[in-house]
Amino acid sequence: MKKDFAINGLEAMRDFAAGIATHLAGHGAVLALEGDLGSGKTTFTQALALALGVRRPVTSPTFTLVCEYPLPGGGRLVHMDLYRLGGESDLDSLGFHEYLQSGDIVCIEWPDRAGDEIPPDAIRMHFAHGASEDSRTVTVDGPLP
Ligand SMILES: Nc1ncnc2c1ncn2[C@@H]1O[C@H](COP(=O)(O)OP(=O)(O)O)[C@@H](O)[C@H]1O
Ligand SMILES: [Mg+2]
Repeated sequence: MKKDFAINGLEAMRDFAAGIATHLAGHGAVLALEGDLGSGKTTFTQALALALGVRRPVTSPTFTLVCEYPLPGGGRLVHMDLYRLGGESDLDSLGFHEYLQSGDIVCIEWPDRAGDEIPPDAIRMHFAHGASEDSRTVTVDGPLP
């Protein structure tokens, strides 16, 4: 099931992420966040983290590739950015498969870098720039828990 969300501005992105958070809280999920540089993948993850109760600042794991944030209700939010992944063999040193099986909420930017290692039941979210500077379209493909 595919659904488009038109998002105008940062506040609307925060509201959108908060809505997704209500579906995810207490569940594990893999979110494959697709879209160009600047389309809002990290901004969405920051808003999702806030809505899930993360109080630490969430920064882009550009060089570390992965960051973990414990959630107040148990479990973790895991944030990956695979842009700089050397190759699929690097997934092992990242602990990629362990993260996927952890039952945590796992957000993955640049999921295409992991080739076909992204599980088929992941929720795919495609981010795209909209008509104005602050507008975005997010296409959600997959069942929210
Ligand atoms: N509606 C919006 N949603 C998300 N980001 C927005 C929006 N409007 C403006 N922006 C800005 O666009 C940029 C998105 O960057 P970022 O989230 O790092 O993108 P990505 O992780 O996809 O490369 C940020 O500077 C953010 O402030
Ligand atoms: Mg990013």
